[in-house]
Amino acid sequence: MEVPTRRPLVAGNWKMNGDKPLVDLMQNRLEQADLKHLDVVICPPFPYFGLFKSTMTLGAQNVSSFDSGAHTGEISAKMLQEFGCRYVIVGHSERRADNHESNQEVALKVATALNMKLMPILCVGESESIRDSGKLFDYITAQIDAVIKQVGIAKFSDLVLAYEPIWAIGTGKTASPAQAQEVHQFIREHLAKKNADVAANIKILYGGSVKGSNAQELFSQKDVDGGLIGGASLDPQDFLSICLAAKQ
Ligand code: 13P
Repeated sequence: MEVPTRRPLVAGNWKMNGDKPLVDLMQNRLEQADLKHLDVVICPPFPYFGLFKSTMTLGAQNVSSFDSGAHTGEISAKMLQEFGCRYVIVGHSERRADNHESNQEVALKVATALNMKLMPILCVGESESIRDSGKLFDYITAQIDAVIKQVGIAKFSDLVLAYEPIWAIGTGKTASPAQAQEVHQFIREHLAKKNADVAANIKILYGGSVKGSNAQELFSQKDVDGGLIGGASLDPQDFLSICLAAKQ
């Protein structure tokens, strides 16, 4: 079988951080660089969306599972699409924890985003205690299978996966390249049992304490197609270094 070339993707998840000056600083820094070899996405908090130029690819950090209605504080996939948003992070571990988002709720959000032609970045990943208990692969399988059950495997060609081990998020404790590769390969093989073509072409990002200094080693792994970056995406120079570390 022909080896597919997966165009790398680096997405910056600002979480509830950043300010107006950072929008300009980040844009200026990225505009000056040659980033033709990858896709770069910024996922800022909602109020900053309108401050970005249309040349910047934007992603949301959340979307409602409802289409519209009495859901105070929620934002629909249609609204995101209306404002030029292309990607949406779904199932981030912080939302699974803080907002009690279940695998089923995450699956509904993926379906809603796909209906509006948004590209979900579906996050999966285990806590330290799950890893220690030896249930890592069962846990990740359940997270992925809930979405397959909802939208079908074929739709996975319209989404991106992100493996973000919770113990590596914001801790400075990055997964080793071998640890990341092991899980990415597992995910790809799991998908391949259902659809080999989808599995070969889907992008799987790594997230968790990625920095300019460790990005290249992580991205050089066979099944790592880029990164979902938290803290380092708030530093334009470090974020640029991460983008430049993506496979050419
Ligand atoms: P850090 O890069 O700060 O560890 O965050 C990763 C993350 O949660 C991205 O979604």
